[in-house]
Amino acid sequence: MTRTTLLPGSFRHGPVVIQSSTPIIVTIDGPAGTGKSSVARALARRLGLDFLDTGAMYRAAAAVVLDRGVNRFDEAAVAREVASADLHFDWSADPPRILAWRQPIDARIREADVEAIVSPLAALAALRRHLVQKQRVIGQQHQRLVTEGRDQGSVVFPDAPVKFYLDASPQVRASRRAEQLRGTGRPVDERTLLSEIIERDRSDSARPDGPLTCPADAERVDTSGLAFEQVVDRLEDVVRARVAAL
Ligand code: DC
Repeated sequence: MTRTTLLPGSFRHGPVVIQSSTPIIVTIDGPAGTGKSSVARALARRLGLDFLDTGAMYRAAAAVVLDRGVNRFDEAAVAREVASADLHFDWSADPPRILAWRQPIDARIREADVEAIVSPLAALAALRRHLVQKQRVIGQQHQRLVTEGRDQGSVVFPDAPVKFYLDASPQVRASRRAEQLRGTGRPVDERTLLSEIIERDRSDSARPDGPLTCPADAERVDTSGLAFEQVVDRLEDVVRARVAAL
């Protein structure tokens, strides 16, 4: 007998009945400052799916490199040390907490020195291969998943049934980031933030491995003029409609 459950959520359009065994991978890609991570987490919660933050994996790799004194330009050494850290998530925490050598490092990965090197580090092909492989294993173990990053719909899960690409103008993203930093008491220069965002977009889009790109079959959502809840509502509507059509 096949069990069916209701997807939890706000049910603005009535509940959608799906089989509890139905695998659903939802990918959300896009540049920094589009609110991707918070949107993905909220969407996963509304739909009763697991949430994977792949940026946390690249950040964790950067923390490992810094804390172990690895030469970040030595691609093989980076991949070797990160592999030995056995990066994985504690799925009992919400959001899931990332661990290296079995130690939680979720606070460490948000620090400024990690932020400073993560983008160039994420361009290393050997590191990307390692983390993409880990993400696919996670996708097999958590088949009902909202996963967010830069390459989730294009490279990691090309067959995902629902893909999104969140975007916003660099100016909007810089002012969101400034607001976030002010909230944590860090000094803010919006013009510097804007040029950092433009440079990061350029390097994330230009790298040969897993470049930031909008997959042809992704729903592109410009979040510039939308409030957070409006973005989540829109994504939820699309997922529920797709699930109903499966
Ligand atoms: O989303 P974030 O800021 O936590 O991501 C951290 C860095 O990792 C950012 O420079 C982009 C990179 N990244 C990536 O290259 N591929 C992913 N799937 C996720 C993040």
